[in-house]
Amino acid sequence: MQDTSEVAVLRLGHRPGRDERMTTHVGLTARALGADRLFVEPAGAGAEETVREVTDRFGGPFEAEVTDSPEAVLREWEGAITHLTMYGLPVQDLEGEIREAHREKPLLIVVGAEKVPFSVYERADWNLGVTNQPHSEVAALAVFLDRLFEGRELDREGEGASRQVVPEATGKTVESVEESR
Ligand SMILES: C[S@@+](CC[C@H](N)C(=O)[O-])C[C@H]1O[C@@H](n2cnc3c(N)ncnc32)[C@H](O)[C@@H]1O
Repeated sequence: MQDTSEVAVLRLGHRPGRDERMTTHVGLTARALGADRLFVEPAGAGAEETVREVTDRFGGPFEAEVTDSPEAVLREWEGAITHLTMYGLPVQDLEGEIREAHREKPLLIVVGAEKVPFSVYERADWNLGVTNQPHSEVAALAVFLDRLFEGRELDREGEGASRQVVPEATGKTVESVEESR
């Protein structure tokens, strides 16, 4: 039985070379904005490694894992599924319903790289557009997570970090967590 509060992101597809930064940014955005887990396909394993390294340094908990069967992730997911697509219904109309459903079950968010098979549209509980304009999976994911958590993710503090940024009006300070104690 999955943890009902879990929010996971499934990155569907990954074109080697071309999608390297995009898949990494999907993972980093998922982690930074409050999701708990990332699934990527084997072609995107480099992104999984980067996300793990960032989690080790800047804190978690956040799990990144490679799956050679996104179909199995979708089939076996015991919770709600939101697929982000420019063809979907407006996020602003459905966010409340999704938050409500997520009170009782885990949520899987699916983002694509290229064309997403129609079976995913059928499997999803909601096909959701963050506008109906073509843009980016990273942008769509960020807006959706912020809507889902109603901004609370911005105040979340990670656990187990070895490094942390000191917020400053000007400057770039990163300190070790021991230094700050
Ligand atoms: C380069 S786009 C591919 C566009 C594709 N025609 C589609 O199905 O949306 C890659 C991914 O970005 C996300 N995306 C792009 N525009 C979006 C939008 N307006 N709303 C939600 N997600 C979007 C989708 O997850 C999509 O699979």
